[in-house]
Amino acid sequence: MGFRKLLAFLSLIATAAGRMVVQQSRPNAPPGFVSQGPAPPTETLTLRMALTSNNVAGLHQKLTSIATPGSSDFRQWLSADEVKSFIQPAVDTVTAFNTWASANGLKPTDASPSGDWVSITLPVSHADTLFGAKFEIFTHPDITDKLVRTLSVSLPSELVGHVDVIQPSTDFIDPNPRLAPRASIRASEKRATPASCDTSDPAGIITPTCLQKLYGIPTTPATQSTNTLLVTGYGDQWPQTADLSNFLQQFRPDIPSNTTFSLLTADGGVDPQGQFEAGVEANLDIDYTTGIATGVPIQFLSVGGGSTLADFAQSLLDTTTFFQNVTDSDLPSVMTTSYGSIEANFGAPFATKICNGFAEISARGVSVIFASGDGGVRGNHDSEFMPVFPAACPWVTSTGATIGIPEQAVNFTGGGFSVFFPTPDYQTQAVASFLETVPSDFAGQFNRTGRGYPDVSLQGWNFDIVSNNVTGTVSGTSASAPSFAAIIALINDRLVAAGKPVLGFLNPFIYASQSAFTDITVGHNSGSVCPSSAVAFDATAGWDPLSGVGTPIFDKLLAAALA
Ligand SMILES: *[C@@H]1O[C@H](CO)[C@@H](O)[C@H](O)[C@H]1NC(C)=O
Ligand SMILES: *[C@@H]1O[C@H](CO)[C@@H](O)[C@H](O)[C@H]1NC(C)=O
Ligand SMILES: *[C@@H]1O[C@H](CO)[C@@H](O)[C@H](O)[C@H]1NC(C)=O
Ligand SMILES: *[C@@H]1O[C@H](CO)[C@@H](O)[C@H](O)[C@H]1NC(C)=O
Ligand SMILES: *[C@@H]1O[C@H](CO)[C@@H](O)[C@H](O)[C@H]1NC(C)=O
Repeated sequence: MGFRKLLAFLSLIATAAGRMVVQQSRPNAPPGFVSQGPAPPTETLTLRMALTSNNVAGLHQKLTSIATPGSSDFRQWLSADEVKSFIQPAVDTVTAFNTWASANGLKPTDASPSGDWVSITLPVSHADTLFGAKFEIFTHPDITDKLVRTLSVSLPSELVGHVDVIQPSTDFIDPNPRLAPRASIRASEKRATPASCDTSDPAGIITPTCLQKLYGIPTTPATQSTNTLLVTGYGDQWPQTADLSNFLQQFRPDIPSNTTFSLLTADGGVDPQGQFEAGVEANLDIDYTTGIATGVPIQFLSVGGGSTLADFAQSLLDTTTFFQNVTDSDLPSVMTTSYGSIEANFGAPFATKICNGFAEISARGVSVIFASGDGGVRGNHDSEFMPVFPAACPWVTSTGATIGIPEQAVNFTGGGFSVFFPTPDYQTQAVASFLETVPSDFAGQFNRTGRGYPDVSLQGWNFDIVSNNVTGTVSGTSASAPSFAAIIALINDRLVAAGKPVLGFLNPFIYASQSAFTDITVGHNSGSVCPSSAVAFDATAGWDPLSGVGTPIFDKLLAAALA
């Protein structure tokens, strides 16, 4: 079974209810999910429906222009209202939807400030009829929640062209935590010698000081209080202020140990403090943003919605709609996320809509940074190549991981080519050069016309962190992404101080400034579940789908940013 079969396709089928168009379908649930039979007909479902934006192509075009060095509107980031003018549905879309809803006795409510998501609540039996669906109860051994999902949803013909997504429907996020960039703390009490920063040596451990030395990152505090860096948190991962304080005392004794972050919440997110509340991922992200972006105000956005990654799709949706409510003056300049899952599991319509949500945030001048995943080319499966989302969205900056000095791409670094998103203009040349290095008899399957990721990389092995009052090491692109985000936040601090606009959507700038990165030319991303001999990509001179254009050189990146 190929995941390409999961791609959305339009086919007309006739049903008793009239003409229905299959909007999204999959032949079966992904491995591990087991149907427990039809969902009870009277059970209530809340479905969110994306109403088609009036001009998403216009948003893409404008974003590409304002992010491309040399264009006349370079870095003239859009206001919330300007973004909304592209994203909000056209009047005829709203009319078509409302007419259909009232004819079917539904009372939709707005589910996003820009009007591009609406929510309906209805019994399963009604949803099955209206959408030619068969909602079933699915269980998975690794999650406690029961999921109500369907293998197919259709739209009545009067909604075709007006509704892009129905969610939840056919999205099944594989809850195998190894799919997400992960961190597992290994206490390092036995550390005998002073840590070396060379992580190709088993005794090598990365600290903020190592990263500052390796990449030339300044230790002097930022000066601009309006320039903030936002860390997202999902799956009940909660950062602890006591752990951060302990971390700073050990690893940044030169800055006040009471330096902390402010909390933002979406969808009922919380951040309880105390023993057993610590999230390793959240602590890692907070340690390396606070510990590297010296003096930059840090925000933690805790997104509620449950502890399993099965809710991850909805949590990403909550994140993009949350940003529609953030006023221009309150926007962070950088946001970093260390979570992801297999692209195919989201389904093309949903992934496309969420990716456009990140384009909205990017267009307002936020650098949206994602970890590229820790499963090599196969997303930790023993199978064909599987790209990771949102890392493979063309409107975010995807960060891979390196190891050692001199740096190599680490074997688990997520990378490859999207099946849903074509190669964006900013990387066509870089991708074409890489493809020339791939042998014609290459045994791996990948999409040569897809968006290649990651864009950049940074150390991602053996980072010292503190979690639940234990000092230990963790590894993953989860470590790379917040550290890269911190570097971008420091550059923004200098730009704001110079009265210049912030970096915003980075990718066109990154591909035009490759000399500001150290090219990583060694590495093979076969992942950690397959033997190192398994087919995978190899790092090369220039961009490659393991290390992107390479690791940042602070001074050169700052000079390029100020140019
Ligand atoms: C941190 O401690 C210093 C000195 O004790 C104090 O002046 C400052 O207000 C504290 N900052 C925060 C954020 O609590
Ligand atoms: C946006 O703000 C409005 C008004 O405060 C609120 O009712 C709504 O729930 C918010 N929406 C989101 C997605 O945060
Ligand atoms: C490759 O990617 C392109 C662009 O996203 C897509 O249109 C095409 O269907 C993909 N091809 C395969 C074989 O997956
Ligand atoms: C953390 O551990 C240290 C030493 O192991 C101990 O002194 C301290 O009291 C602990 N702090 C908390 C909050 O438990
Ligand atoms: C991947 O690299 C790490 C770090 O060098 C190493 O510990 C691990 O054994 C490697 N895994 C495989 C499957 O080669």
